[in-house]
Amino acid sequence: MSSLSLPKDRIRIALLEGIHPRAVEVFNENGYHNVQAVKSSRSGDALTELLADVHFLGIRSRTQLTADVLAAAPRLNAVGCFCIGTNQVDLSAACELGIPVFNAPFSNTRSVAELVLAEMIMLVRGIPQRNAAAHRGEWAKSAENSYEVRGKTLAIIGYGHIGTQLGVLAEGLGMKVIFHDIVTKLPLGNAAAASSLHDALGAADVVSLHVPQTPQTENLMDAAALGAMKHGSWLLNASRGNVVDIDALAASLESGHILGAAIDVFPTEPKGNDQPFESPLQKFDNVILTPHIGGSTAEAQINIAEEVSSKLVRYSDNGSTLSAVNFPEVTLPDHSGRHRIMHIHRNEPGVLRQVNKVFAEGNVNVAAQYLQTHNNVGYVVMDIETTDVKDLLARLKSIDGTLKSRVLY
Ligand code: NAI
Repeated sequence: MSSLSLPKDRIRIALLEGIHPRAVEVFNENGYHNVQAVKSSRSGDALTELLADVHFLGIRSRTQLTADVLAAAPRLNAVGCFCIGTNQVDLSAACELGIPVFNAPFSNTRSVAELVLAEMIMLVRGIPQRNAAAHRGEWAKSAENSYEVRGKTLAIIGYGHIGTQLGVLAEGLGMKVIFHDIVTKLPLGNAAAASSLHDALGAADVVSLHVPQTPQTENLMDAAALGAMKHGSWLLNASRGNVVDIDALAASLESGHILGAAIDVFPTEPKGNDQPFESPLQKFDNVILTPHIGGSTAEAQINIAEEVSSKLVRYSDNGSTLSAVNFPEVTLPDHSGRHRIMHIHRNEPGVLRQVNKVFAEGNVNVAAQYLQTHNNVGYVVMDIETTDVKDLLARLKSIDGTLKSRVLY
């Protein structure tokens, strides 16, 4: 059990893995100056040592926060993953220790949409093969299979954050936009929902995939789905690597059914830039291959730094856990003029009764109470009117099942 009822200058924040400096600025702007930012990751003893007295930790994808590492971090109050994925953190262990984990799932939406838009124009114009030929010293000047995107139909499969942005941008180019999603979605602009995946595939000149990785989307674009696409159409995948059956796509490109493709994500990707990359698609000049950089831009890095650091500041300042990936989500108003007590506990019968008993016995007026639970953990926030908050906090901490408790003055 631990608490975080400290003045801001004693709240220690460590940022690893070269997180964009905008994160430090956001902490500083909000009064947090005890921030240590380093370029490298930490592991083993070095990580445990660092975590001995860190209150907030920012990482990217390389720092592994296992259950053991988290258990050895007595003061850790929240983790910010300054990236999209959170696989590097044992999320349920963190939750059971009362540690919310935040990330930035949509900070690079625009970057992906722009890349896809640019690649789509290149594909439809037949540029990749002409570019490859020119690099080899060949002159391929012709208008064959070279088109404008204006007036063409784009099918967006997965009409979420990226899909909707892409749709708006594509309409700006004069494209007709249709989409398929498993959830009923409000169409933006003049976009229209297709009645099924196959209808969308069959009606489109260009198909772009923006679905998440789920059991349903694994090999969504298999030989049958590729066959349902119009003869002479184009496919783009900047979603997840296993959404497209790459061998089936290679066969479809070989036969000329698919006229070109742009692929950013692969079923197996090299672990680092020093590893080789192999794909059956490498032999096709009419395929744009990019190393999973759909979301990799300077702007996305800044957005991620701002989004995650703001979430950590908000959690520290007012207790809000909105969009935590592993934790009860509570959105809280300001608590001006009142003390706010946060109590994180095991979600077991009787704990909340004891919490309320502490207030009743202390004759403390509770002005507002917010409660959420997530799996085995409960998070209750109370705005109270009392002068002896220290005694109250001590009594709350002694309740069996308490994981963390803190007060905001
Ligand atoms: P999102 O969650 O906002 O949208 C996904 C949409 O797909 C949702 O509307 C959902 O209802 C829909 N969907 C789910 N299963 C479906 C199915 N079986 N058929 C049709 N629609 C389905 O996600 P967002 O942010 O738009 O991201 C989309 C994809 O892009 C994700 O896979 C994400 O991992 C990937 N991504 C790739 C990046 C890159 O660097 N290439 C960067 C960022 C995201």
